[in-house]
Amino acid sequence: MAGYPVWNQEAARSIIAGLAHLEGATLPILHALQDEFGHVDPQAVPLIAEALNLSRAEVHGAITFYHDFRTAPPPRRVIKLCRAEACQSLGCEAMVEELAETHGIVVDGEPAGDAVVETVYCLGNCALGPSALVDGELIGRVDAARIAGLCQQERAQS
Ligand code: FES
Repeated sequence: MAGYPVWNQEAARSIIAGLAHLEGATLPILHALQDEFGHVDPQAVPLIAEALNLSRAEVHGAITFYHDFRTAPPPRRVIKLCRAEACQSLGCEAMVEELAETHGIVVDGEPAGDAVVETVYCLGNCALGPSALVDGELIGRVDAARIAGLCQQERAQS
């Protein structure tokens, strides 16, 4: 999965400088930073405050007010786990429990390392369930160990 570059304070500074002249520049700057890095790092707050002559609290307030902005990098791997009826009859709920209890991976919870596991309802692969979509690739007959492995693989690569 194509990731974002790591946060770079100098690159952030030049993005901010390029937009600081705009009227109401806070939001365009925040969007530009998120487009570039996938999130608005807390290190951006003093840079934006200084460039726009705002207080840090004002900048922080704008970031938290608009729910679109992330302050941490997005997960690099997204695993969508089917929990619809056919996959339920093939054991997906037991797998969700095993993921939590054995591997500490909470479906629809906090990211596991750089991966996140989310619920979806039917991936059109019912006969081969439990099914999952991993970075857009459909996988059938998954089990908890495989999902945990996919999370760890991402952790190891990052
Ligand atoms: S119910 Fe899971 S793929 Fe259809």
